[in-house]
Amino acid sequence: MPEAGPILVTGGAGQVASALSRAPGVVRVGRPDFDFDRPETIEATVRATAPRLVVNAAAYTAVDAAESDSEAAYRANRDGPATLARLCKAAGIPLIHISTDYVFDGAKPEPYVETDPVAPQGVYGASKLAGEEAVLAEGGQAVILRTAWVYAATGRNFVRTMLTLAKTRDALRVVADQQGCPTTAADLADAILAIIRRLDETGWQAAYQGLFHATGTGATTWHGLAVAAFEEAARHGARTPSVAPIRTADYPTPARRPANSRLDCSKLRQTFGVVLPPWRDSLRLTVDEIFAIAPP
Ligand SMILES: NC(=O)c1ccc[n+]([C@@H]2O[C@H](COP(=O)([O-])OP(=O)(O)OC[C@H]3O[C@@H](n4cnc5c(N)ncnc54)[C@H](OP(=O)(O)O)[C@@H]3O)[C@@H](O)[C@H]2O)c1
Repeated sequence: MPEAGPILVTGGAGQVASALSRAPGVVRVGRPDFDFDRPETIEATVRATAPRLVVNAAAYTAVDAAESDSEAAYRANRDGPATLARLCKAAGIPLIHISTDYVFDGAKPEPYVETDPVAPQGVYGASKLAGEEAVLAEGGQAVILRTAWVYAATGRNFVRTMLTLAKTRDALRVVADQQGCPTTAADLADAILAIIRRLDETGWQAAYQGLFHATGTGATTWHGLAVAAFEEAARHGARTPSVAPIRTADYPTPARRPANSRLDCSKLRQTFGVVLPPWRDSLRLTVDEIFAIAPP
């Protein structure tokens, strides 16, 4: 792997790209300069930056909108990543690509491992799965990290939405029959940086190639995450609404979501020595950050 050059991070002002942008040696790019809808910007960006590694944190992430906008979802989640992977292979540099828990159908009772069969329930998950396959098919050096339930102190995410609703609502209803692993953008960024340090230390190894699950440690439901967020917000004097647990069937959305998308992250630990912190600890830190820098 070339030792010189920056780490090129795609994803503009997105949650994960923003968290990564705080690290030294990172060049972050986003729309309009880097746009999967204008494929010529992909090669131009890689050429101009001459990176030693690329992290692709850009994606079409609007899960429900993707159901009626599948062409754009596939352009950003499959075609663009395939082009990036081809350019990285040609340059002889690794690509760290981010994927999702929504490649699974959620029927497995236990946490999913990387070798479990995939069966996405919607366009977003299907387009991200097609992206995984396209990146791997290019045959270059590719680490694909499937993460889940990402949130940060800024940006559009479930935790911020809940805290905003709590300002005006005394009672909320939140889905309690979908389980997953909340992951802060900051923790995922730290994990990515630790992987990059490992690549720098050892050079590329065959064991690094392919899929890895990378989420916060532990699991909860959307209801559990909302209740916990309100507990943390109460320390900052925020109002605490009542939160009624409801079923997915009571909250219909355009895209179906997996009932269980807990991911087993053992392979990430065994291969890279990386473990993300317990989700509850990171929630506390993130709610503190929200009230410090961007109160709801
Ligand atoms: N958020 C989650 O809960 C979650 C869960 C599982 C996996 N993931 C994966 O984690 C990664 C990072 O997600 P995130 O939470 O940081 O998402 P995010 O906050 O929605 O950021 C995604 C970024 O991608 C950019 N983007 C969208 N379409 C693009 C296009 N056609 N060309 C270039 N850039 C484009 C957006 O740019 P603009 O700012 O210009 O709109 C946005 O800044 C993604 O691969 C996502 O699929 C996320």
